[in-house]
Amino acid sequence: MIQFLLNNRLITETSLDPNLTVLNYLRSQPQRRGTKEGCASGDCGACTVTLGKVVAGRMQYQAVNSCLTLVSSLQGKQLITVEDLRQGGELHSVQQAMVDCHGSQCGYCTPGFVMSLFTLQKNSQGWDQEQAEQALAGNLCRCTGYRPIMAAAQQACEQPTEDAFSAGENELVQRLQALSNAEVQILEVDGSRCFVPKTLAQLAALYQQHPDARLLAGGTDLTLLITQCYQRLPLLIALEQVEELTECTEDDTDYHLGAAATLHRCYHFLSHRIPAFSATLERFASLQIRNQGTLGGNIGNASPIGDCAPMLLALNARLVLQQGEAIREVPLDQFFIGYRKTLLQAGEFIRTILIPKMTVSPEFAAWKVAKRLDDDISAVFVAINVHLADGVVQQARLAYGGMAAKPKRALSAEAALLGQPFNTAALEKACAALSQDFQPLSDFRASADYRLQIARNLLRRYYAQTRGELTITEVARYVS
Ligand code: FES
Ligand code: FES
Repeated sequence: MIQFLLNNRLITETSLDPNLTVLNYLRSQPQRRGTKEGCASGDCGACTVTLGKVVAGRMQYQAVNSCLTLVSSLQGKQLITVEDLRQGGELHSVQQAMVDCHGSQCGYCTPGFVMSLFTLQKNSQGWDQEQAEQALAGNLCRCTGYRPIMAAAQQACEQPTEDAFSAGENELVQRLQALSNAEVQILEVDGSRCFVPKTLAQLAALYQQHPDARLLAGGTDLTLLITQCYQRLPLLIALEQVEELTECTEDDTDYHLGAAATLHRCYHFLSHRIPAFSATLERFASLQIRNQGTLGGNIGNASPIGDCAPMLLALNARLVLQQGEAIREVPLDQFFIGYRKTLLQAGEFIRTILIPKMTVSPEFAAWKVAKRLDDDISAVFVAINVHLADGVVQQARLAYGGMAAKPKRALSAEAALLGQPFNTAALEKACAALSQDFQPLSDFRASADYRLQIARNLLRRYYAQTRGELTITEVARYVS
């Protein structure tokens, strides 16, 4: 059974298909078809809805792609769709802003934009163009153009009006808190089952009992099997309610990032601790995806083009793995054993990602090369973590995505730098060594030659940026 609020209405569902997306759930409900399907893959934002949950006694709102959100994620939350905004016969201030600024033509994208704007307004303290660009980067419009929509965003942020959501916040918090349930919830229909554990102990026991289950974290990758490949996932264990897995903390030696911490949460936690990590997360898909997708999911799916793995490899991260009550720690660079393969045993899951503070260079850098700035998948990703003492390289950890069948360190290039003065001679030896480390593939994102050239140029860019001894003109010479 799951329980949630559909705007203000308490919904109790006992027999929902765990493979059902929130989008398809909504579209099966009377008067709830404003939410649209464009791509069913998290790329267009037409399906954007807002999820409200209680955090530290206050309502916190996040925009998500309902096409990639399975219904089990609704447990204990408030689901708000475009139909809920107009109240007392009046348009909500974000809807009025879209009208005033001529932000809609055919209207297909408009419900998604409106929900992203609504969530932006709830989370903003006034107009901030960068924040608005981040909030809207996951919404595509083919006909209006973005200038009027950005004008609507500015109006909505500069002139918010008190709405029923803020007026009724205290009551909402109490109603949602009453839905919290310490028991494992189960959704089951037609041979498909989803367990929704609340504690780490429940999760560990369930996964040991059902090692063939698929772990559902944010679902932004897994749900594509349902929406794009038309598969059914007969057995799921949802991680989102397990609070111990969603926390980000630190001690004297390490940053501890829970495996089910969302990428957006990691973004905030790391923004002052490892700024280059957070800056790169701004280009990790859309905000809707980052509100759902998790760090553990990005590591666990072992994609060769995931953006977090190269950064964590360069930062010498370790993983805490749990199987039943047994806990072990493994260095991340032993975790990936092949294309989309990891050393996880049956019933074992990632519990925490540890980043040792000692290894984080103040000049840690990471760059993503993709065809678009926003909402795109990397052709090549690099993370560079070099420590110098008296101009000599004491630590060189270079890790790349998109260059091999798995995220991988460039060990030959690292060896060419280690113990050497950090100068152009060492730099060029490292660049040459990259061809020993990688024999990349050609695919629709980039050719093998382009990938290798970019991998070298990113290293040169790092040198140019950190040492100031190589001008951008000199970098350009290597490209030709
Ligand atoms: Fe396109 Fe959901 S339908 S992002
Ligand atoms: Fe037509 Fe945006 S108004 S797609």
